[in-house]
Amino acid sequence: MERQINTIGILTSGGDAPGMNAAIRAITRTARFHSMNVVGVMRGYQGLIDGEFVKFTSSSVSNTIQRGGTILKTARSQAFMEADGRKMAYENMVSAGIDALVVIGGNGSLTGAQLFAREYDIPIIGLPGTIDNDLYGTDSTIGYDSALNTIVECVDKIRDTANSHDRIFFIEVMGRDAGFLAQNSAIASGAEAAIIPESATDVDQLAEFIERGKRKSKNSAIVLVSEAQKDGVGGALYYADRIKKEYPQFDARVTILGHLQRGGKPSAYDRILASRMGYAAIEALLEGQRNVMIGIKNDEIVYVPISRAVKMNKPINQELIAVLNVLSM
Ligand code: F6P
Repeated sequence: MERQINTIGILTSGGDAPGMNAAIRAITRTARFHSMNVVGVMRGYQGLIDGEFVKFTSSSVSNTIQRGGTILKTARSQAFMEADGRKMAYENMVSAGIDALVVIGGNGSLTGAQLFAREYDIPIIGLPGTIDNDLYGTDSTIGYDSALNTIVECVDKIRDTANSHDRIFFIEVMGRDAGFLAQNSAIASGAEAAIIPESATDVDQLAEFIERGKRKSKNSAIVLVSEAQKDGVGGALYYADRIKKEYPQFDARVTILGHLQRGGKPSAYDRILASRMGYAAIEALLEGQRNVMIGIKNDEIVYVPISRAVKMNKPINQELIAVLNVLSM
């Protein structure tokens, strides 16, 4: 017989993402609607180990849907990677009467959730919360759309100065090992090219493409570059250096957008996504679902085994690559 779930714990872990607060709010309010107790766990898994628990009511999440960051704070806990850390986390959970966990985070955080659930037979529901959009089984992750909008706003500004000076800008964006942010922000900002880990980049071809643009009186160029590196190859500095050395006729500059991409208000899309996913997390627990990540595919809620969400590669749609190539001519 299924254990009854009276008290749930919520935590955010890994890099913060806009929309995490909207998810915390939705989970809290849906749980309260079903008369469950809610415990906010501060600072991700580290808070489980340290027993940093806060009782949450519906009003604990008032006035938070529009706020960036995470009211629960977040961390990348080294201690939770050790068996002793997870044991302590489990013991604290039991003494606080927490029967199930909802974990909002990215790949690393959900991998931790999977391990914890296996070792201690705890019902865990994962919510994909990362600007990287690199979790398999969901069309979008919480925070991705907001980060994309932030990037596009920045690129529009850089375009002004690139145009005035006839320069080529290599703009580096986050994404860890995934090119979603770079590829889609390139399309949305009308950039000339994107350099992403999912497809090979030939510097000579890129230079030839920029040169062709110049001949057609396109005197500036924007190249969105994913931060992903392999054996020291990758990132905006690497490509800008090569262009400067091998094609000194180009006036190249680099902008690394960095952590500003993770901040700011969540977009309407992310608020709705997070609200739907947070609601679905509690419904899933009530249906007896265990150790699944909530995803949204073709506008429908889906349950994805966490093991698949973290292990399977999420491919970049080839059509996006074609769209950028054709439209940036
Ligand atoms: O996973 C989200 C992310 O923002 C990645 O895009 C980036 O590589 C990483 O986190 C940066 O992590 P930190 O804030 O710990 O430096």
